[in-house]
Amino acid sequence: MLPASSTTDKPFQRPRRLRRTTTLRRMVRETTLSVDDLIYPMFVTEGEGQKVEISSMPGCYRYSLNLLLKEIAEVSELGINAIALFPVIPENKKDDTGTESYNPEGLVQQTVKAIKQALPNILVITDVALDPFTTHGHDGLVDEKGTILNDPTVEVLVKMALSQAASGADFVAPSDMMDGRVGAIRQALNAEGYINVGILAYSAKYASAYYGPFRDALDSAPKFGDKKTYQMDAANAKEALKEIEQDIAEGADIVMVKPALAYLDIIHRVKEATNLPVAAYNVSGEYAMIKAAAQMGWIDEKQVILESLTSMKRAGADLILTYFAKQVALMLI
Ligand code: PBG
Repeated sequence: MLPASSTTDKPFQRPRRLRRTTTLRRMVRETTLSVDDLIYPMFVTEGEGQKVEISSMPGCYRYSLNLLLKEIAEVSELGINAIALFPVIPENKKDDTGTESYNPEGLVQQTVKAIKQALPNILVITDVALDPFTTHGHDGLVDEKGTILNDPTVEVLVKMALSQAASGADFVAPSDMMDGRVGAIRQALNAEGYINVGILAYSAKYASAYYGPFRDALDSAPKFGDKKTYQMDAANAKEALKEIEQDIAEGADIVMVKPALAYLDIIHRVKEATNLPVAAYNVSGEYAMIKAAAQMGWIDEKQVILESLTSMKRAGADLILTYFAKQVALMLI
């Protein structure tokens, strides 16, 4: 028998008691990932019978409409009922001012109509930004000096958002980072009677090198300069709170932080600062890094995906846009 003194010296608190079995760990788990949290970003392209893998995003495809509908039906069986739609616009439909973005018969507009007709319960979120539609690849209009013009861009974004709402989009998601666009879009939606079309605002969107693979997917990399005069500087956190505050005042329904993994502190601070739902965008570069390392056999893909997404939720994200959505839904079944 041990002497009495050594028994009383034993710690009273032993955190490891709660980690002893799977059941206990599940009982005290603070954060759980659910398929309800996931929004699946999907790429649509023109044509028929197209399903082309994006080389820097293995497992992600550009789908033509018929195959996109099939894929959406399949993921909805897995419980994913919200998608964010991104169009691949052929070079011959791009111009300097992105006029194709508000063509009522454009690719996005036709796709939304078709989804709503075939699968009316799918929540469709459309992207509001000019980069897939402009020859120069910037999110806004550009003057002869290469400056991205704010207020004239907002006018185009408003037209684009209205045409998306007219096609049946449930949410429009301005990802352009022009000042004042959320308010202008809200006002226009209200004026046209789209009072229930929501705004998922890319509020704290950073000028990030993690968007590289996405720009491959859409062939939308800027042809000159970078996006640093409109997207945020990675060094700033208080500025994110300022952006969030302004977007809320302008009528955002959900605010977003993008990218996610390198910005967990921002997600946390944003969550503390608002009672609105907070979304995080687990972007293309974050996806590509995990896929590449897993292909090399250097990490356990499944565990790294779950750990990454759970950490985003722990940081404060209520919703996650992720290219892993389908894979995760299959894991959670
Ligand atoms: C377009 C847009 C981008 C992304 C979403 N919307 C690219 C960019 O701003 O250059 C990136 C998404 C990703 O990397 O997964 N405005």
